[in-house]
Amino acid sequence: MTQQALSKQDYESFRKFLEEACGIVLGENKHYLVTSRLTRLLDEFKFSSLGSMIEKLKGASNPTLKDKIIDAMTTNETSWFRDKYPFQILYNELFSEFVAKKAPRIRVWSSASSSGQEAYSISMIFSEYQRKNPGKYTGSLEIVGTDISPTILKIAKEAKYDELSLSRGLSSERLKAFFTDEGDGGYKVRPEISGRCRFSELNLLKSYSILGKFDIIFCRNVLIYFSAEIKTDILTRMAKLLNPNGYLFLGGSESPTGYCNLFEMVKLKDGVLYRLK
Ligand SMILES: C[S@@+](CC[C@H](N)C(=O)[O-])C[C@H]1O[C@@H](n2cnc3c(N)ncnc32)[C@H](O)[C@@H]1O
Repeated sequence: MTQQALSKQDYESFRKFLEEACGIVLGENKHYLVTSRLTRLLDEFKFSSLGSMIEKLKGASNPTLKDKIIDAMTTNETSWFRDKYPFQILYNELFSEFVAKKAPRIRVWSSASSSGQEAYSISMIFSEYQRKNPGKYTGSLEIVGTDISPTILKIAKEAKYDELSLSRGLSSERLKAFFTDEGDGGYKVRPEISGRCRFSELNLLKSYSILGKFDIIFCRNVLIYFSAEIKTDILTRMAKLLNPNGYLFLGGSESPTGYCNLFEMVKLKDGVLYRLK
């Protein structure tokens, strides 16, 4: 399908819609990104132009169209053990803190979970810790994964991945230890790992209160898409969800500095994380 032109007015109207719907702030010159991602929806929803599709977003709600557009505009880029250091910190430092506290349960929120690699990597590193330190931690680990995109969450819930996605950050030892070969080119996360994780749809702009309290929050590589005001709102509400001394992991290029002063930076040999003050 040929790319559609987008008028200045339609682009502005689309930017407004996207920021209000999911927080994503588009720069002033992202016309190409918008047209390339939305053009494929024209046929599906039987619109003759991007302008008429964007016009429809203003009027009476069309939840399916809105969901599909948000799906098309979100970047779901992820990998296993992304950036390594958050998982090394869990293994080398944090799990032992919960041992010392005799915590009966560790609750972790993977708050922009994408297709599940982050949540399952947390569960795998916990299994590795347990194997290395038998009997040391007798409590349980619960990981709640949420994302705005129902399409990407379907993959997370199915817990089945192809060789290309497994090649991104997963060692052959971990593949062997934590996945079963389904014989059709796909590998499924073993129940020992997936059983600790559950996934549900959640827009970070909406309320988090149904999720309960957490000891650790992963909010990685999503704040970069949001305005300063939305970053402040999300970080402040995440702080309220953390148990005392709870931890926050952000992406390598993200920081609460300048947006929320409820966290203090903790510098460890493996990398940086944030603790609730
Ligand atoms: C780049 S991925 C990051 C995945 C993972 N945290 C990581 O670091 O590998 C960003 C994810 O944020 C999700 N997202 C974007 N806006 C969101 C919102 N308003 N609420 C919840 N999730 C959102 C996207 O659907 C996408 O899956």
